Amino acid sequence: MVKVAPSMLSADFSKLGQELVRVTESGADWAHLDVMDGMFVPNLTFGAPVVKAIRKHSDITFDVHLMIQDPIRYVKDFADAGADWITVHVEADGDIKGALKKIRELGKRPGISLNPDTPVESIKDYLALVDQVLVMTVQPGFGGQKFRENGPGKIAAIRKMIDGSGRDILISVDGGINRETGKRCVDAGADVLVAGSYLFKLGDMAPEIALWKQW
Ligand code: DX5
Ligand code: ZN
Repeated sequence: MVKVAPSMLSADFSKLGQELVRVTESGADWAHLDVMDGMFVPNLTFGAPVVKAIRKHSDITFDVHLMIQDPIRYVKDFADAGADWITVHVEADGDIKGALKKIRELGKRPGISLNPDTPVESIKDYLALVDQVLVMTVQPGFGGQKFRENGPGKIAAIRKMIDGSGRDILISVDGGINRETGKRCVDAGADVLVAGSYLFKLGDMAPEIALWKQW
């Protein structure tokens, strides 16, 4: 069954706790939390204190997407704040394998993400260390961008790589996901659909989430 992870980047930040409850009550599997440092991407969002503050509003799985330059410095803060999954970028600086190992040691689920222009081969050496590959279908940094058409092909290629690895790894897709692009990604092999602007602009996201989960 497909999992749906609304991206809180498109929520009303003035009432993040209530927005998290809304997402939870809409039947979402995970809440996707986009952390941006203004360096790895040209935008700033929030850090571990905000994750900790909203943690008490819901038991939903927290899928933390770190778009930050040197992630190993911060993984413990996010683990302590209540993250369940912590994903770092293959393009980031510093010790990426060390960051993934540290996430595992902290009892959390590690993920690796790659940008639209990053070749799928770049993640091969990390597959032994992760439980999730997050395929970006927009250049990270902002919600509401257009889906990049090379996404489904990359997902299919990563699905083959994972099958060859013999490990059980989820493929998530993030950026420009709506009913049409999401279905194409699921058909290509995606397990988790991350969607921000499309879901949050719906008055009630529950029926859409229910539909996607059946794909
Ligand atoms: C982009 C973020 C995404 C973003 C997706 O940098 O990683 O999670 O919130 O937003 P939409 O679904 O609007 O493209
Ligand atoms: Zn994201």
